[in-house]
Amino acid sequence: MRAVGARPYTVIFSTATVDGRIASSTGYSMLSCSYDLTRLRLLRGAAEAVMVGASTVLLDNPSLRKRLEPRSDRYYRVVVDGRLRIHEDLRLLREPGPPVIVFTATRDPEKIRRLESRGARVHLVGDDGVIDLGEAMRILVTVYGVRRLLVEGGGVLNYSMLREGLVDELRVTYTPYVFAAGRSVVDDPEARGFATTSESPRLRLVCMEKCPCGNCVHAAYRVESTCCPPASGPYIEPCLSQKLRGLTTRAEQLYEW
Ligand SMILES: NC(=O)c1ccc[n+]([C@@H]2O[C@H](COP(=O)([O-])OP(=O)(O)OC[C@H]3O[C@@H](n4cnc5c(N)ncnc54)[C@H](OP(=O)(O)O)[C@@H]3O)[C@@H](O)[C@H]2O)c1
Repeated sequence: MRAVGARPYTVIFSTATVDGRIASSTGYSMLSCSYDLTRLRLLRGAAEAVMVGASTVLLDNPSLRKRLEPRSDRYYRVVVDGRLRIHEDLRLLREPGPPVIVFTATRDPEKIRRLESRGARVHLVGDDGVIDLGEAMRILVTVYGVRRLLVEGGGVLNYSMLREGLVDELRVTYTPYVFAAGRSVVDDPEARGFATTSESPRLRLVCMEKCPCGNCVHAAYRVESTCCPPASGPYIEPCLSQKLRGLTTRAEQLYEW
């Protein structure tokens, strides 16, 4: 973990099974109840950028557009794609929406040109497919003015961010399912992970609440072992269930990710 020049206050939000999986062995990941989707959109509304890993974009093809109660017009959709696997047919680049920023560590001028022709802003940060996430955070703050960032996974990106000490809050909604295999909330693709409790990021529980659906639990932890101070403080209250009860959105409208 090394200090970085500047970084946004960063929240990870994931929805998991009771055994901590965000996707099954087939990549299936539709776990959220309608309240949880509202929770996600409130977090997006409070953030100035949402960030996802390349595999999530390729597998789920999300638009990442929907927000509730936006606090600012500033809103970027950020993709972390070490090997530049994303392509211009994805919804993020095909459909109208907030600007897309891509961080990569692959020098492929032709691919970069194609993505930029669809409006993406591509930044080369790192070498050989390994992204310097600290540098990516610095660019988000200094070039785009992003002080509040929401990371929506998947597990590999969550792991990279936590390992570098770039995360301030870890929020997980536990749903009443068990997958027994697949991606975890935090997942080291090299299967090393954090070997002991003393190596684990230090977490402090700031909210634990029953979801208004009655069958899920939302836990919010503050991460105490970060690399360096963020550019902003916490941007949303830890417990949100009471607010969620007052926000009703029809389920079919919600299921556009
Ligand atoms: N339930 C939920 O809350 C939730 C949320 C999000 C996603 N999901 C599910 O999770 C699954 C995908 O998750 P995942 O963990 O496999 O993938 P992921 O985290 O979405 O993406 C992993 C990719 O991100 C890039 N990346 C991440 N950190 C990097 C770094 N430090 N340097 C360079 N590149 C980096 C790499 O791209 P390159 O390969 O291009 O190098 C890596 O392969 C999907 O099934 C999706 O549906 C579930």
